[in-house]
Parts: sequence; C-alpha cells; structure tokens
Amino acid sequence: MNNLKGKDLTSIEGLDAADARAIFDTAKLMEPFAFRQKLTRVLEGAVLANLFFEPSTRTRISFGTAFNRLGGEVRDTSGTETTSITKGESLYDTARVVGGYADVITVRHPKTGAAKEVADAVDVPVINGGDGVGEHPTQALLDVYTIEARLGKPNGKTIAIVGDLKFARVIHSFARLLSKMYQGINFKFIAPNGLQMPENVRESIRTSGSQHTMTDHDSINAISDADVIYITRTQEERFADPAEYERYKGKLRIDKKTLDTLGKPGVMLLHPMPRDSREGSNELDHDLDGDPRLAMFNQTDNGIPVRMAIFALVLDVADQIEKTARPVNWHVPKKP
Ligand code: NCD
Repeated sequence: MNNLKGKDLTSIEGLDAADARAIFDTAKLMEPFAFRQKLTRVLEGAVLANLFFEPSTRTRISFGTAFNRLGGEVRDTSGTETTSITKGESLYDTARVVGGYADVITVRHPKTGAAKEVADAVDVPVINGGDGVGEHPTQALLDVYTIEARLGKPNGKTIAIVGDLKFARVIHSFARLLSKMYQGINFKFIAPNGLQMPENVRESIRTSGSQHTMTDHDSINAISDADVIYITRTQEERFADPAEYERYKGKLRIDKKTLDTLGKPGVMLLHPMPRDSREGSNELDHDLDGDPRLAMFNQTDNGIPVRMAIFALVLDVADQIEKTARPVNWHVPKKP
C-alpha cells in the first residue's frame, strides 16, 4: 500500500514518520539506479515541470536528474526573468497552466507558502524545493537519510545545528523531520543572537509526539558533545538591510582546528550547500575537504535516490522499478 500516491510534498509538517520511512526504504531500492549500476525507464512519457524562481544548483539539477534516471522528461524554468512572472502573471495562473502540461511539479520560490499555493491550484503532485524562509522538505529527507546511512537511527543522539537558524529553511525542515522520526534527541541550537530558531519550529518539535530536549547557545564551543553537527550559511538574501547581514557574517565557523579541538571523535558534519566560501564568511572551511567526518558530498549524492523515491511514490511506480531493470551500457567510473 503506497500512502504517497498522488500526494503533494510541501512541508515536513504534512508528512508522517511512516511516509518518511517509506521514502527511505524506496530510496534504498533506487540506489543502484541512481548510481548508474542499473537502468529503468519506468517513467517513460512522463513530464516534470521543474519551476525555479530563485537561484539553485543542486536542487534543480538533482530533481531533473532523478526524474531523468526514472526515464521521464524535464522542463525547467530558472529565475524569473525568462518567465511571464515579469509580465505580472500570478503564481496561481502560472501553476494552473503548467499543471496542464506536466505530471508532477517541483517548485522553488522566494515566498513562504508558495509551494502550497501551487499545490492548491493544480491536480498533479507538487514537491516543494524551498519556499522562502519556510521549508525545504526534500533536503531534510536526504540529510536524515545520510545520517541513517552512517550512524543508524539517531535516537537519543546529540544534534548540534549551527548558523542562521532563523532564515535557513533547510534547518526548519531538518529539525522537524528528526523530531518526527526519532525519540529523545538532544537538540543544541547554536546561533548568533538575533538568528535563533523560530518559535514555530520549536513548537513542531514540542508537539512531535516524542520527548526531545532543546537548548540554545551562541558559541561554537557548544558542538563539543555533539554526535552530529549541521552547519549552514548565513542567508544573505533574506536580510532586508544588507548592513544587518554584515553584522552576522562569519560569526560561527568550523574549520579543521575547531573540529579537532572541540569535536567528538567520529563526529558527523553536515552542510546543505552552497557553502559561502567568500573571505569573511567561510562558515565551513575548505581545510575539511576530504575529511572523513564531513558528509556534505554524501548528502548531495543522496539527493538523487531520495528524490527518485519521492517521484516513484507520488507517481506510484515504485513497485515496477525492479522488474523493469536493465544493465547500463556506458562507462561509469567506480566510486572511490
Ligand atoms: C539551501 C536552500 O536553498 O535553502 N540549498 C539547498 O537547496 N541545498 C541552503 C542554502 O541556500 O543555504
């Protein structure tokens, strides 16, 4: 029984733990297809409308790639300049039109709640690729999938979330998903004063049905007892006043020395990317590239099987994948 058939995925709020588990189980089945050991064309003839009204590299390309790896075709928009939004078209009209062209819609938009607006306007499933300062549910799914792959179920673990917790939508979805799926998480929210975790996310954690603890900190020293550290970029584009961004930039950073000095042995370090590598920001230093504690590129790799799983479930083809499997017939480099 597939509970996600025909459903939207606009927030973690609307997803229950069993649905998340079904996505993880399906993502595991997708891995040989995502990592080019096997081929399927199960979505041959299907069309994804990949609507991106904000900058994106990973999310847009990985949604498209995931759909292609299932055999479907992708139509993209990128930015607003090349769309009728610049002529004053409403999001409702754009959505209604595209809903008539595509079998599924993915959307990223600067307005919080935009994915839900699109979902309300169309009959086809809508997947949120980031709505303003709201949520980014598929990122949270791939983040937590990556944690499970390395550490198993993180029940009772200490998870430090570092950076701009106010504006980073990835964090909002990540904390909500962890609180729904597991028990007894010790959340440490480490943010500069003014960028703390919003109350609505804390409320979701409190009402998740499981007991968790939450503490607030403003110093990077608070990572010292963490099993998992998730650090994110200061969300420059969300500040109304650029001077305000300057105040926060570079406040909390992790480099190799910090991790060696403060981190528990074997701590897992995540970042949703993009990292801000400009001097003065640099929240995650390049001196950690290649460090086994850094799981950032496992996260990006896992974006493909997790997004394939979501498409396969909402379009209800997950149970046809294995029986349509074929070998790939081009050269694929072995993973190191
Ligand atoms: C994030 C986003 O757009 O919210 N990127 C992503 O999708 N991996 C994080 C960010 O921009 O900092």
